[in-house]
Amino acid sequence: MEGLEFRRHRRLRQSQAIRGLVRETELTPSHLVAPLFVEEGLDERAPIEAMPGQSRLGLGPLVDEARELREAGVPAVLLFGIPAAKDEQGTGAYNDQGIVQEAVRRLKDAVPEMLVIGDVCLCEYTSHGHCGLLSPAGDIDNDASLPLLADTAVSLAEAGCDIVAPSDMMDGRVAAIREALDGSGQSETAILSYAAKFSSAFYGPFREAADSAPMFGDRQGYQMDPANARMARDEVLTDIEEGADMVMVKPALPYLDVIRSVREAVDIPVAAYNVSGEYSLLKAAAANGWIDEPLAINETLTSIRRAGADIIITYHAKEWAQKQ
Ligand code: PBG
Repeated sequence: MEGLEFRRHRRLRQSQAIRGLVRETELTPSHLVAPLFVEEGLDERAPIEAMPGQSRLGLGPLVDEARELREAGVPAVLLFGIPAAKDEQGTGAYNDQGIVQEAVRRLKDAVPEMLVIGDVCLCEYTSHGHCGLLSPAGDIDNDASLPLLADTAVSLAEAGCDIVAPSDMMDGRVAAIREALDGSGQSETAILSYAAKFSSAFYGPFREAADSAPMFGDRQGYQMDPANARMARDEVLTDIEEGADMVMVKPALPYLDVIRSVREAVDIPVAAYNVSGEYSLLKAAAANGWIDEPLAINETLTSIRRAGADIIITYHAKEWAQKQ
């Protein structure tokens, strides 16, 4: 074969050591956020059928879970609440004695070094299951929802949340939340905005977990059309103008191109949410023996980082971090 010229790419793949030396994307527990569900009136853990390995947690188990995550090197949790009662206005979301507010106080007391992110949305608290208030005609009333979302953010910040994360997709909510936080002495609380949140089938298992499926209609009037990548950048830029400290793309795997595009458009931290449906697909295939679960998790998380995410919100956080 003398004279044959070609690049020998395999030279850099010959051993663990050389592969490590040239690896472009690092994955460490310090970039992960674990979403947790806390249910009012529950003492123990209630496994979520559609999300093997995940449970709704009472306050005691929530603290245990946070401790285990912290020991594994995961620095942050994202809290979702399941209230005992719901109403048209979603009052449980902005009640200072609400389940998440209570949970934040307990967590900050027991595991003070854990960063606590509070999800800001009404859908787990409204009887109709939509993310904002409804007008008498049954449409989303964007502007009337803003003060309630702002109250939710202030209430969570006062309970001790380090970061609030609005996931409702109402227009103007980041500005409303920033103003309300600053006006109530919470100017140090950061906003992680679910800026590019798509209307996705991959939220299915979450809606079972959080009991937040809309009673009628869908979320296409406020969440983004999966076909739109340029519009995602536009959404992100608007949220930054309104005061977002970090922005999120959600879901992650079907939107890696959007993560990349947002990464290139902004200099603030970008988070990606590896959502419930992505988790459950992987778990179901693994349970059937169709894929190697640890390898698949590793590849999934690496690909989200490679696409440009600084932060990954993932239900795999504890399992993955404990193996490092
Ligand atoms: C809304 C919210 C949802 C998720 C996070 N926040 C559901 C929705 O928009 O229907 C989904 C997260 C997941 O699927 O893991 N508060």
